[in-house]
Amino acid sequence: MTMLELNPEVSDFLASVQGLRIGADRVQARETIEVLNPSTEEHLAQVACGDADHIDAAVDAARKALSGPWRTMSSHDRGVLIWRLADAIEARKDIFGQFDALDNGKPFAKARDVDAVYSARHFRYFAGWASKIEGRTIPVSDPGRFNYTRVEPVGVCGLITPWNYPTLMVAWKLAPALAAGNTIVLKPAEQTPLSALYLADLALEVGFPPGVLNVVPGLGAGAGAALAGHKGVDKIGFTGSTETGRRIVAASTGNLKKVSLELGGKAANIIFPDAEIEAAIEGSFWALFGNNGQSCTAGARLFVHSSIRDQVVAGLARRANALSVGPGMDSESHDLGPLISQQQMDKVLSYVGQGQAEGAQCVAGGKRVRNAGYFVAPTVLDGVTDTMSVAREEIFGPVMAVLSFDDEAEVLARANNTDFGLAAGLWTNDVSRAHRMAARLQAGTIWVNTWGDTDAASPFGGMKQSGYGREMGQEAIALYSQTKSVWLGLKESDLI
Ligand code: NAI
Ligand code: MG
Repeated sequence: MTMLELNPEVSDFLASVQGLRIGADRVQARETIEVLNPSTEEHLAQVACGDADHIDAAVDAARKALSGPWRTMSSHDRGVLIWRLADAIEARKDIFGQFDALDNGKPFAKARDVDAVYSARHFRYFAGWASKIEGRTIPVSDPGRFNYTRVEPVGVCGLITPWNYPTLMVAWKLAPALAAGNTIVLKPAEQTPLSALYLADLALEVGFPPGVLNVVPGLGAGAGAALAGHKGVDKIGFTGSTETGRRIVAASTGNLKKVSLELGGKAANIIFPDAEIEAAIEGSFWALFGNNGQSCTAGARLFVHSSIRDQVVAGLARRANALSVGPGMDSESHDLGPLISQQQMDKVLSYVGQGQAEGAQCVAGGKRVRNAGYFVAPTVLDGVTDTMSVAREEIFGPVMAVLSFDDEAEVLARANNTDFGLAAGLWTNDVSRAHRMAARLQAGTIWVNTWGDTDAASPFGGMKQSGYGREMGQEAIALYSQTKSVWLGLKESDLI
């Protein structure tokens, strides 16, 4: 097995202990985080591990930057800076691709052409918004008063991101937060801090004033909890587990900071007998196995109409057995990489065992593969029923649960019978059914005859315990802004 050659900037970056990015400084810490390569289980890098004192310093830097040149910069110039950051990411898509392929393990080609390229696009979309955030003049009932609104930044935003899309999840939050004029303290996931640290350097290079973007890697219980509870932080934007989301809300009560949450999911994906079956099999397959199942929108509960179940299960198993699984940086490219950690691998394998113990049949995969790295073979569990743990809990790995159904009303009720509500979807050629189901499924995103599409321009977020707030689109600008109402008393002589 030969690995792709490292970009020289990447090897330089990995060779030294990367400090925290606070203001214009690189700050070393007493503690460090050892970042592992999940494809090999080997040491990859050492980065400074921020604690509560570092979060204090970063929040100070962000607070100062809020009243510096960033405050008075024109919206046009703010947009230009964000656009330049997009260009810088795109020009270095190989570097971002390598960072994500190394610390997350995903295939390099996907990390470069999807994660890095879509991150750049995300910044470009929000660069345009910077100059289009408008207030209103409001015709209030008293003619002696002039009323208008100003849309202002929230202030210092703490952004806490997960490891499944290390660069893209940062882009989703950072781009709208910058466009709306906020300053940032970003705490990336401890497993995947590399691209975020590198991005902080690029932001300074393209001209963002120091302190606008501070990056403090650290543990969830350390830097993460300190950021969520900090009195000087005005808002937290979070993506991660529902459990951690609850902790963040609890930590926010001290200063009642604003919180937006994008949490777990257990998406229902329904194949009706009137669908294009082969397209439904292919789409449903990637709905779960894309990103190795490590997606909050993974189509984890596949409901198949009983009349087509044998055909669909056979197609899924064939597809699963044909996938190639291997290191993110392998020169021979693979469909899927490893899971992020030993802990995630153990959790995923334990669900496979539990599913079988509860009566499901494993028709593909079901075990660890390769000698090193946290690799699990793409797994299909057939004969799953609603009460099994594999049908109720988020597995976050390459394990598809196949359930069967007989009619629309029944499957709708079963699909909605979950605490989660991030995404759902269906495959059908009946346009009335498509609209009816789209209206009745309880989830923030519905995909019909497709799966997994997201776009910087279209709102994304959860219902029920999948979170609150919508990222992307104009909703994301609202998420990172607050509205002020201004009243002017007019003189009698001003009235027209
Ligand atoms: P997590 O939700 O604990 O971690 C996500 C981020 O939150 C990381 O940056 C972490 O350091 C931070 N964090 C952890 N505890 C915190 C706290 N008390 N205060 C502030 N920040 C904190 O997720 P974890 O432990 O990595 O994975 C556990 C499970 O969560 C996974 O198996 C999966 O089911 C789910 N998950 C869901 C994601 C999604 O996109 N919805 C992403 C990652 C994990
Ligand atoms: Mg956790």
